[in-house]
Amino acid sequence: KKKIAIMTSGGDAPGMNATVRACVRMAIHMGCDAYCVYEGYDGLVRGGDLIRRMEWHDVRGWLSEGGTLIGTARCMAFFERAGRLKAAKNMILNGIDALIICGGDGSLTGADRFRSEWPELLEELISTGQLKKEQVNQYRHLNIVGLVGSIDNDLSGTDATIGCYSALARICYAVDLIEATASSHSRAFVVEVMGRHCGWLALMAGVATGADFIFIPEKPREDNWREEMCGIIHEHRKRGKRKTIVIIAEGALDRQGNKITPEMVKDLLADKNGLALDTRITTLGHVQRGGTAVAYDRMLATLQGVEAVKAVLEATPETPTCFIAVTENKITRKPLMEAVKDTKEVAKAIERQDFELAMSLRDAE
Ligand code: F6P
Repeated sequence: KKKIAIMTSGGDAPGMNATVRACVRMAIHMGCDAYCVYEGYDGLVRGGDLIRRMEWHDVRGWLSEGGTLIGTARCMAFFERAGRLKAAKNMILNGIDALIICGGDGSLTGADRFRSEWPELLEELISTGQLKKEQVNQYRHLNIVGLVGSIDNDLSGTDATIGCYSALARICYAVDLIEATASSHSRAFVVEVMGRHCGWLALMAGVATGADFIFIPEKPREDNWREEMCGIIHEHRKRGKRKTIVIIAEGALDRQGNKITPEMVKDLLADKNGLALDTRITTLGHVQRGGTAVAYDRMLATLQGVEAVKAVLEATPETPTCFIAVTENKITRKPLMEAVKDTKEVAKAIERQDFELAMSLRDAE
């Protein structure tokens, strides 16, 4: 009987529990034993009761739960070979040779490395006497499948990562709340959203809330960003708009690669010799990442979880590590490392060309 383990890794994202539920139940449905690795890669390295057999009913009610109920971690030990050796040993002791990982590109790259090192790790476990040859023989090949769980929507090759639409919905809801009070006092708000390297959330929130101005890492602002922003906001105010919303991603930059901070933007909006707007900063922080998953993320997680188990069962030693994507509304399998490479080269948030136009529709709502 095939034993498939499921784990979540990196920053949590709404929909991760739905993913685990789908994988566990699909694995059981396909006649396999399902396991969960608790606490991300840390659980693989530490083993023991962090690797647990799961039954159908163990994931009951998980579809809508926020966060990840099996825990996650940014595990340092797994970056070291010694950690990966322990992880390999724990997998074999539990009879597991297939792993489904739901995480961001860093977590998935770690998984690809683990798979390519697997034969060497097995040899080392035998040569150091930690495991016997007979124990290892049936686990010569490691199957790994990735599912992209991240609120940032930062992986190329897939239209949406699990969790991004929940975070976007949360941001839009928060901006709606802020707008009511902003409008009452005729104030400006600088709203900081997550996205250290990827501005998808800031960009789409800007489009979806009709924000006056946005800052994203992929489109460093020109030297004249101050004049540009103040000019646009001045125009909106002249037309009678009583609220000003500027959305800034954590990783916002200018052309020189200097960080643009919410404080800088606030000082500019409040400048007595300029717009002189009564301005506040709201940092949305981790409320963006918590809470239940929206319908789209539950659906995506479930459909992709089903596909991930199928991919595990169909993989051969020759198939490169794949991840499950959604492209033009279809669930597909794609080579993982190509997507990771493209992510480094393409600014995914601005692949969608129409955003400049979409942003230009905003005005005095
Ligand atoms: O999950 C991705 C992300 O939310 C980034 O956008 C953000 O910068 C980062 O994680 C913060 O993560 P943490 O709070 O876990 O350090």
